[in-house]
This record gives sequence, structure tokens and C-alpha cells, in this order.
Amino acid sequence: MKIFFIGFMGCGKTHWGKAVAQKLGLPFFDLDARIEEDAGKTVSQIFEESGEEYFRMLEKEVLNLLTESHETFVMATGGGTPCYYNNIDYMNAKGTSVWINCSVDCLHSRLLKEKAHRPLIDDLDNKGLRSFIVKKFGDRKIFYQQASIILNEDDVQLDSLIDRIFHPSK
Ligand code: S3P
Repeated sequence: MKIFFIGFMGCGKTHWGKAVAQKLGLPFFDLDARIEEDAGKTVSQIFEESGEEYFRMLEKEVLNLLTESHETFVMATGGGTPCYYNNIDYMNAKGTSVWINCSVDCLHSRLLKEKAHRPLIDDLDNKGLRSFIVKKFGDRKIFYQQASIILNEDDVQLDSLIDRIFHPSK
């Protein structure tokens, strides 16, 4: 069983991914953390030194490596992961993808407090951050919507989330 949490920065992929992994007794992987371990650099350093295109290549490589080398896991991907290469098709072919759909307001208030380690938004002010979210979220929705399971942030609860993972058509 391979479960991939996808969605915009700040939607709760890591939080819910860890909770599901713990409840099901499965290993948990944080894709960004694994990229950082492999590269020996933070995501911000990779963006700064080598650019986003290079980061996307590493992201794809580590996604493939972890997925092929483990039978079962829960993974929190990065906000852009499903939007590059064939990553969303790949995740859906290998397992179950879960999108946590958060409102722009919710993402904005969370990301204002948590932007320091996120290179795409770290230098944006309040207004700039909001415009960025509206634009980027609009561009990316088409990828997030391809998730096997779609949950609205307000409806997410651990037991119902696990129930949906085992009965995706509900
Ligand atoms: C990114 C999201 C980040 C990280 C990188 C790029 C994005 O992950 O992969 O900064 O393109 O949305 P989180 O969604 O965990 O913040």
C-alpha cells in the first residue's frame, strides 16, 4: 500500500500523512526531507544554488527511488510534486493519492507564519503572498484534481480519512 499526500504548500500533507502512517503502522516519508538528506542541502539552498528546474529533477528522482524501493508507505510530497513531469500519473499508477483541498484564506493565514523555509514565497509580503497563492493554486488545481481521493480541509478527520483510503469510491 502506497499513499501519497498531495496539495498546496500549507494544506497539511505532513500532518495528515504522519497521522495516517502512525494509525496504520506504516513507514512515513517526507519527500522534501529525503531530497535534503540526499543532496546534503536544504530545499532553499538547492533553489538558490541550482534553480527550480534542477530541484524538480531531484524531486522526481527521489519520488521514483522511494516508491520503487518500498512496498508500503505513506508519503507527504511537496506542493509542486504532482505538477511536474508525469508525477501525478506515476503516483496514481503506483498507489493512492490524497489531495487535501484548503481554501485560499486558510493557506494564506498558515503560510504567512511558515514561509521562511519555502523558497517560492519567503520574500513575499502579506499582499504578495495572497496573489501568489491565488495564481499558483489556480494553475495547479488541474493536477491536484486528479487525486484518487479528494478531501476538503474542513471535513478531514483521521477515521474518515482512513475509511476513504480503503473505500475510495465512497
Ligand atoms: C514547493 C513546495 C514545498 C517544497 C518546495 C516547492 C512548491 O513543499 O517542495 O519549496 O512548489 O509548492 P511543501 O508543500 O511541503 O511546503
